[in-house]
Order: sequence, then C-alpha cells, then structure tokens
Amino acid sequence: MKNFTFYNPTKVIFGEGTIEQIGAELSSRDHKKILFLYGQGSIKRNGVYDTIINSLNENKIEFVELDGVKPNPVLTKVHEAVALCKEHKLDTILAVGGGSVIDSAKAIGAGALYDGDIWDAFEGTIRVKESLPIFTILTISATGSEMNTNSVVTKENEDKKWPMLTGPCSYPVVSIMDPKVQAELPISQTINGAVDAIAHIMEFYFDGSPNTDVQDEFSEGMIRTVIKHSKILLADPTNYESRSQLMWVATLALNGVISSGTKGGDWATHMLEHSLSAFYDVAHGAGLAIMFPAWMKYVHEDNIAKFAQFGERVFGINEGSDEVKAVNSIYAIESFFKEIGAPTRLTDINVSENDLEKLADNASMKGALGSVKKLERNDLLEIYKLAF
Ligand code: NZQ
Ligand code: ZN
Repeated sequence: MKNFTFYNPTKVIFGEGTIEQIGAELSSRDHKKILFLYGQGSIKRNGVYDTIINSLNENKIEFVELDGVKPNPVLTKVHEAVALCKEHKLDTILAVGGGSVIDSAKAIGAGALYDGDIWDAFEGTIRVKESLPIFTILTISATGSEMNTNSVVTKENEDKKWPMLTGPCSYPVVSIMDPKVQAELPISQTINGAVDAIAHIMEFYFDGSPNTDVQDEFSEGMIRTVIKHSKILLADPTNYESRSQLMWVATLALNGVISSGTKGGDWATHMLEHSLSAFYDVAHGAGLAIMFPAWMKYVHEDNIAKFAQFGERVFGINEGSDEVKAVNSIYAIESFFKEIGAPTRLTDINVSENDLEKLADNASMKGALGSVKKLERNDLLEIYKLAF
C-alpha cells in the first residue's frame, strides 16, 4: 500500500430532524454574521429554508441571503457572493444544497480572503491556504462535497469547468445530512447522484494502484450498496432507509477513506465529463453515465485483472477468462446505468458528432489525463467517439 496521511476534520450530523441544530452549531463556535447560500428554490418547497431561518433566529445569528446558485455553478455567481462577504464583513458561509452550492461556497470562502480573482486557484497559479469557515446542509447525495475540499466551478466565457486547487481550510466544519429532505428529489437527480457516487468509487478502484485489498473490499461493497438502494428508490422514492444508505455511501465515496493508500484516483473520466458540462450544461451524473463505460472500453486492456475482479465481485460474473469477465463487467455497469434511466450515449444528450473534436480540445486543455493509462488529446477523442 502507498504511504498516506488521512485527515478529515468535518463533523457530520446525520439523520431525520437534524437540520434544526445548525444555529447552535454556528453559535457555539461564535460565528455571528454569515452568508446563507442556496440554489434555485428547492429548499423553500421542502421546508428546509424555514427550519434554517428559525434556527438562525433562535440563536441570534445575523445572515445575508444569496440564492440562485445553479447546477454546474458559475464563476460570476462566486464573484457576486465574494463581493457580498467583503461588503458585509461576513465571517462564515452556510451552504445549503448539493455539490453546486457547496462547491461555490468553497470558492467564495477562499475568495473572500483573497485580494485577487479566486479563479487563480482554478488556473493553479495559487493554492488556497485560507478560507472563511464553511458549514453545509446537504440536500442531495452525489458529490461528497459535504466532507471533502473539492470545488468545481465553470468560467462561463471560456468554457472551463475546472477544479480549484484547495487545501485543508476548505473542509466543511460541520455538515448536516437529513435523508428525509430528499423525499421530493426528482428521480433524475437521484439517478445522477447514484451514478456520481459509483463513478467516484471507480476512479480510485481503477487507478492502477497495487495492493489495495481493503480499499477494494470497501469499494465493491459500496457500489453494490448504491446499486441496491438506487433500484429501491426508483420504485419507492420516499424510502427513508434507502435514502439514508445512499446518502452515507455517497459521502464515503469521496471523503478520503477509500482513496487512502491509492495513487489518488484516475480522474480522466471526470475531466471528460466536465467538458460535456461546460459545453452542454449536462448534469454531472448524466455525463458520467455516458463517459465511464466509454473510458472503460478504451483502457480495460491495461488493467484486465482488475476489471475482471470488478465484474466478479460487483456483478457476480464468474464465467470465462479474465478478458471475457473484464468486457462483461463493462457491459454490466452500462446496463445498470440504462436500467435506472441514465443516458449512456452522447446522442442521448443531443451532442453532435461534429463537436467531438472540440470536446477533446477542451478536455486536454490542461494536458494529458489519467493514471492507469496516460491519455493524450487523440486518446480522449477516441473515447468521445466510443461514447457516441
Ligand atoms: O437549486 P435547487 O432548487 O436547490 O435544485 C437542485 C438542483 O437543481 C436540486 N435539488 C437539490 N436538493 C434537492 C433538490 N431538488 C429537490 N429536493 C431536494 N432535496 O438538484 C439539482 C442538482 O443540484 P446540484 O447541487 O447541481 O447536484 P450535485 O450535488 O450532483 O452537484 C453537482 C456539481 O458538483 C460537482 C459537479 O461537477 C457539479 O458541478 N462535483 C463536485 C465534486 C466535489 N465537490 O467533490 C466532485 C464531483 O465529481 C463533481 O465534479
Ligand atoms: Zn463526480
């Protein structure tokens, strides 16, 4: 196993009825003047907003509200929020929503303490060293942003959907997770979240790291858990136990537990997807359901034994040689994505064949991608072709 340091300071408060604890969590740490950041209105429809307002008022916490963070969040919104933080001298950010709101909060928290444009940390010319403290209330399970330092934002006028170079200061201080608030989540978003959680697990699983028994056993069980409970939720979207399972497994997928001792993930598929989101504003999970099987088809020959193991342990594929099992494992995951209603071809999201070159240019803007196999621009083009 590779050497590693495991550090994750986020306090997680999980379960039904926990959101009302937010005010006390903030006030016990003396945070008195916060930015209350959220998306495009779901929290007003499901009661989360009212619960938060009551809790903030009871604990005498002043707040400035900013709504309108959109899925595939954009830099202009981050700039607007940074200006608010500076103008009102806000000391904390409360992000309520999914990855888009929480990722924005991390960029805003860093931007509020930085004199230049926080996009510098996305270009990689600076690394974030300080941030306003971030508290989150998670309303959709997918990204793991509630318990990691990642932030992905789009610079709209340059079609760049890129991750920020963050540091430990970007970990949320407290994340509250109530599975009940996902009862009304549109089924397409449940599916996107399930795919994203699986994709995160697979990024580590297939990165070519040797000697990962404990990571593999965790990962395979986690993927089986996502498969089992996403199927239950398709039939019964308000099933609290399945919402709980999916919520926690999505957090564990990207909080450092299964990545410890690995090379840190492959991530080519995620970057291929981010280019799709940058051009077509496609939901992240939907883009991953298209790109992951295509990436697997392109690289599996470089890691046959691992792909065969995946098929055996996740889907019970025991027939044939390792090569046969590896190929069948790819079809098994693709079939699962289809079964739950995720798109699996670029044509499903109306991408034109003429755009594949521009997608490959975009995905390779920062250089070659991937760990198990280094992928140059023309490799990426071939993967987009396989996804077409
Ligand atoms: O804006 P509102 O009205 O709240 O609606 C949202 C949004 O339209 C809705 N929603 C959320 N909770 C709901 C709800 N609707 C009803 N009931 C609820 N309880 O769901 C929609 C999608 O929200 P979003 O935050 O965009 O989803 P997700 O959590 O999947 O985040 C995706 C973003 O995170 C990035 C993705 O690239 C994408 O930009 N990622 C972040 C990562 C990280 N921080 O670690 C890693 C990922 O790989 C990913 O790149
Ligand atoms: Zn993801």
